[in-house]
Amino acid sequence: MSKIRAAITGVHGYVPEYVLTNAELETMVETSDEWITTRTGIKERRILKGEGQGTSVIGIESCKGLLEKTGTDPKDIDLIICATVTPDMPFPATANIVADQIGATNSFSFDMSAACSGFLYGLSTGAQFIESGTYKKVIVIGADKMSSIINYEDRTTCIIFGDGGGAVLLEPSQDENGIVDAILKTDGSGANYLGMPGGGSRMPATIESVTAKKHYAFQEGATVFKFAVTNMADVSAEIMEKNNLTGDDVAWLVPHQANKRIIDATARRMGIEDDKVMINIEKYGNTTAGTLPLCLWDYEKQLKKGDNVILAAFGGGFTWGSLYLKWAYDSE
Ligand code: UT7
Repeated sequence: MSKIRAAITGVHGYVPEYVLTNAELETMVETSDEWITTRTGIKERRILKGEGQGTSVIGIESCKGLLEKTGTDPKDIDLIICATVTPDMPFPATANIVADQIGATNSFSFDMSAACSGFLYGLSTGAQFIESGTYKKVIVIGADKMSSIINYEDRTTCIIFGDGGGAVLLEPSQDENGIVDAILKTDGSGANYLGMPGGGSRMPATIESVTAKKHYAFQEGATVFKFAVTNMADVSAEIMEKNNLTGDDVAWLVPHQANKRIIDATARRMGIEDDKVMINIEKYGNTTAGTLPLCLWDYEKQLKKGDNVILAAFGGGFTWGSLYLKWAYDSE
């Protein structure tokens, strides 16, 4: 019997209404639309406003849309994985909150923390449960409310990040389409360059930690940039070589949206032309675990059954990786 493949059979996303433009950021920190646009490619990002609104809002809205468009009964969902670094709270898991709110009463659910590679890690993990024959319907969410951990007085981070995310449904493939391969990597020494020191067990919240702004994300941008360019390009080239793919064989590259310059370098290394690269960084910024499902959602109508698609990510940890799939459906 041939191996069961896990196929994405639907995708849906959600971004909050509020648009934070480069022009508004110019009034908040010493920056310019010109600097942000040329250095990152970002024009605007979305911000989730309102008291009590956490990342679960993004997950719930994405899942509701996903269930509706795929005609799925929430009671048939076996597992929900939510990749996020901005959970509603340390526990219970945001995935549990989403499961409850969408009526997925027969599923178990958990969060996954792998920063910008979270969706890739979640997709690969969820696929294992389908490939083993254990489950038939798995939802993988990638979502972050980055505005909850951003210091809007720090121009090195506040211009980059935004809120949003999406969800995909994984089911056993009916043909040869589906997830073919994944290469996932971690380098824990990256903790020195990108992360958030406060709020965990090492530095619980105190008046001192809050005053010292330890509950905000920090990034040594130039160092992370170098690691991101090399590693995201290397791992993407590696998965192509392993699967005997050339740039011409690849229909779409779905790269993490951290910086337009990193995306361009990765595409060049893979020999993939610009018109085959999914890009929406200009309107959402970097939504961490949310970027890949948001790209798939934005480009869903252009994806065709059988398309060779390569997803690639790099982020905090450091974490990075690449996943190769054959797209499983044509959108109506
Ligand atoms: O998603 C997770 C993984 N993250 C990434 O992949 C992000 C990787 N890093 C990057 O995308 C880029 O490093 C950044 C966009 C964060 C920064 O761009 P850069 O070209 O690496 O700039 P830089 O940090 O080397 O700073 C260059 C200059 C500095 O001024 P001096 O020292 O040359 O006078 C900064 O102080 O730009 C200055 N600068 C700014 N100027 C205007 C830094 N941030 C800003 C700003 N507006 N917002």
